[in-house]
Formats: sequence, structure tokens, C-alpha cells
Amino acid sequence: MRHRTAVLAGAVGLGLGFVGIAFTEAGDWGDYQVGDKRSGYTYAQPETQAMQDDDFENPAFLLVDLAAEQWTIPDGTAGKACADCHGDVENLAGVGASYPVYDEGWGKMMNIEQRINECRTENMQAEPLKYDSKGLLGMTALVKLQSRGMPMNVAIDGPAAPFYEKGKEFYFQRRGQLDLACASCHEDHSGEQLRANRLSQGQPNGFPTYRLKWQNMGSLHRRIKGCNRQVRAEPYKSGSDEYVNLELFISHRANGLPVETPSVRN
Ligand code: HEC
Ligand code: HEC
Repeated sequence: MRHRTAVLAGAVGLGLGFVGIAFTEAGDWGDYQVGDKRSGYTYAQPETQAMQDDDFENPAFLLVDLAAEQWTIPDGTAGKACADCHGDVENLAGVGASYPVYDEGWGKMMNIEQRINECRTENMQAEPLKYDSKGLLGMTALVKLQSRGMPMNVAIDGPAAPFYEKGKEFYFQRRGQLDLACASCHEDHSGEQLRANRLSQGQPNGFPTYRLKWQNMGSLHRRIKGCNRQVRAEPYKSGSDEYVNLELFISHRANGLPVETPSVRN
């Protein structure tokens, strides 16, 4: 307790104040809550929830629809389209709920963005897409959309175990000028107000997400960079091993919550 007070005092000194507010809770969040786990949806404003509830209102579908077209268009010198090998994109149902996975060839974890680029470079002889490009965001969202409503189901046994440990260490490591860990905000203070935001549990099940602040879709790694910057810590690169391991940890932490991609958040 003494420890936490000291941290908060430091944070307030730098202009970061958590404010505990008694919110009236609906109490029953349906599929968006599993045990103690709550999707970011349950912390969002009703207008934001409404945008996510209606695919026609959800601006993320602009990029998802473009990716659905891309799915059948050959690219690269092998003259192949995704559809030539995978058939209907619906065949990828369940895949988005289970990544990152350990890849034998890489000897480390691979997330969906990287899996798509691996197919592009190895199976299509096409250029990889830039991490936060519209093309890769849209295709990642399209793949994960096939698992929408399915429970997150990320494995951490076998060869994934050491990478999970690294991700866990990152999650609890205090960092930056504010000396806060992911857990300091998303476990110790979830439900409280931090500046314009109500702190959620920081669950990854809706990514890529359409963020009103960005006026665009963004990756989980972009969001994490933002969280690193909030504590004035140096962010890592999108697609870095550090973030993929962290993604493994937080995705497993979200196991049981439904895939919500593409979510809408402020
Ligand atoms: C200073 C407090 C703070 C810290 C530390 C922090 N975050 Fe966040 N994070 C936020 C805020 C504020 C938001 C936006 C509101 C929300 O969803 O909590 C957010 C949002 C998120 C989201 C999006 C949740 C959703 O439903 O869309 C994820 C994922 C996330 N954070 C992960 C992390 C990870 C991983 C770390 C550690 C590297 C971290 N955060 C550290 C404040 C923090
Ligand atoms: C030439 C055939 C080929 C093409 C073209 C291709 N893939 Fe693949 N893809 C594969 C194979 C083979 C695997 C399985 C690899 C493995 O498990 O080692 C795979 C695996 C995947 C997976 C992971 C599936 C799982 O069960 O884990 C995803 C996601 C994926 N591809 C997406 C795409 C996308 C998106 C495109 C188009 C940009 C694409 N692929 C193009 C052959 C292809």
C-alpha cells in the first residue's frame, strides 16, 4: 500500500492523476465479461459502443472491405492471391483467436501481421506490407474478423513458454519517468479516470481497432507504443520481439474474452 501511494504521488507530480469515480455499472456485460476479465468495450462510452455494434457505422470496415477485395487479387512474382491457397477467407475462422504462435522456422513467436507478411514474402514472392500500413491493418482485421465472437485461445506451453515469461516480465516492469508498469494502470487502476480516458484492463481482443483519436485503424503495437509514451518511456518498434512477446502475454491474459475485431475505441 505504501508503495502504491508513493508511485501515485510521483505520477501526480508529473501531471498524471488517477481519479476514482463511482460509475454506475450495468452489471451484466454479457459476452464482454468473462469472470474478472472485461473487454475495453465495457469501459467505453455508449456512443462508441454503438459504433462498434453496427458494422455499417464502424469506420474500420472501410479497410476490411478493401482487404476482402485484396484477398482474391494476385500479387508478387509467384502470381498468387491469398484465395488461391486458402480459398474463402472464412476458412481462417479460429486462427485470429490463437495468435501469436511459435514458428519453427523463426525460432520465436509470430503474430498475425507477421504471418500475413510471411505468406506474402515466402508464398507469393511479394513485398511485405509496412507494419502500420492500411493494407496490413485491413488484412489483419479481415483475418481476425473471421474469429469474431470466438473466445481468445492463446497457448503458452511448449516452445512458447520462455517467450511468455519475457512478455510477462515486460508487463510488470516499471518504466519511464513515471515509473509505471502496464499492470500499474491496467490492473491496479482499471475503472478509474485518467485524464480524458477511463482506464480499462488493456485487453487486446479488439485489435486492430478503430480509434476515434487517431481517426483511423491502428495496430495493437501502435497502442502499446502510446502507452509507453504516456509514462515517458522509449517505445519499441511495431513488430519488435519485445512487443510480440508482450502481445503473447496479454493475449493469453485475455483468453476466454471474445475476439471483437474490429473494435471501436476513443
Ligand atoms: C499511465 C497509465 C498506462 C500505462 C502504464 C499503460 N497504459 Fe495501456 N492504456 C492507458 C489508457 C489511458 C488507455 C485508453 C483507455 C483504456 O482502454 O484503458 C490504454 C489502453 C490500452 C489498450 C487498449 C485497450 C482496448 O480495449 O482497446 C491496451 C491493449 C493497452 N493499453 C495495453 C498496455 C500495455 C501492454 C502497457 C504496458 C506496456 C500499458 N498499456 C501501459 C493507460 C496506460
Ligand atoms: C502459395 C500459397 C499461399 C498463399 C498465396 C498465401 N498463403 Fe497463407 N499460408 C500458406 C500455408 C502453406 C500456410 C501454413 C503455414 C504453416 O502453418 O506453416 C499459411 C498460413 C497462413 C495463416 C495462418 C494459418 C494458421 O492456421 O495459423 C494466415 C493467417 C495466412 N496464411 C494468411 C494469408 C494471407 C492474408 C495471404 C494473402 C496475402 C496468404 N496467406 C497467402 C500458404 C499460402
